[in-house]
Amino acid sequence: MIRKCLFPVGGYGTRFLPATKALPKEMLPIVNKPLVQYGVEESIEAGLNQIGFVTGRGKRAIADHFDISYELEHQISGSNKEQYLESIRHVMSEGIFSFTRQKEMKGLGHAILAGETLTGNEPFGVVLADDLCIPDEGLENVLGQMVKIYKQFRCSIVAVMEVPEDEIHKYGVIDGEAMKDGLYRVKSMVEKPKKEDAPSNLAVIGRYILTPDIFDILRVTPPGKNDEIQLTDALMQQAQDGVVMAYRFKGTRFDCGSVEGFVEATNYCFEELFKKGKLV
Ligand code: G1P
Repeated sequence: MIRKCLFPVGGYGTRFLPATKALPKEMLPIVNKPLVQYGVEESIEAGLNQIGFVTGRGKRAIADHFDISYELEHQISGSNKEQYLESIRHVMSEGIFSFTRQKEMKGLGHAILAGETLTGNEPFGVVLADDLCIPDEGLENVLGQMVKIYKQFRCSIVAVMEVPEDEIHKYGVIDGEAMKDGLYRVKSMVEKPKKEDAPSNLAVIGRYILTPDIFDILRVTPPGKNDEIQLTDALMQQAQDGVVMAYRFKGTRFDCGSVEGFVEATNYCFEELFKKGKLV
């Protein structure tokens, strides 16, 4: 059973300045719900209810969001406004939240390594809240889809999607041997390659299931692209030492790390969820 999920939320959110000057970017709302809550709901729904945040300075609002606000509860208790707290109350009752701080921002791999203290020696999920994932109609959510694959293969799993050639430089990219049903065995991986160097058009998005041996690899992974410790490099090592699978998930992903993707996600959630009463 996978019970834990890490959320690296230490990043500065510079692309959303000045909005993110005093507010964590993960707290920016998509319609009426902070971005990070979508990811946390996905995780809990997939059965990973022990949520570990790897935070940084200036991110206290995230911890407050997943804790009781007595004043608010008191104010609206018994009124018709209680309905607005429904989703966060549900998340708070189902989830267990832990926090650790990453003192310096040295890359995604560095953030995951900082989370070791929260996950210990067991497989765990990773959600990058910037990637908002909506599963295809009638399907379980993307992390849930990956948990199923994990149960079959018991190795690290990365979620991938096909992206156009001129966007491939923004992602970790896999070279994989196709197996069945959108599954690939990873042969190699490269972080943010130039389009002419990309081994495929299969980009890694922010959903992972990792086995805990990743920590020993991360400890000795030297800084890579942009002089940061890259999770992609550690996964590449793990793939070479053993097995890493890539899974072409069934759903739509919005890149909420960019203003354009954030607005697209907002429009989608407003039209398809909020207006239809599906966004509580
Ligand atoms: C990170 C990872 C990258 C991955 C991407 C998905 O990059 O390093 O491999 O493709 O997330 O969103 P970032 O977008 O944080 O620069």
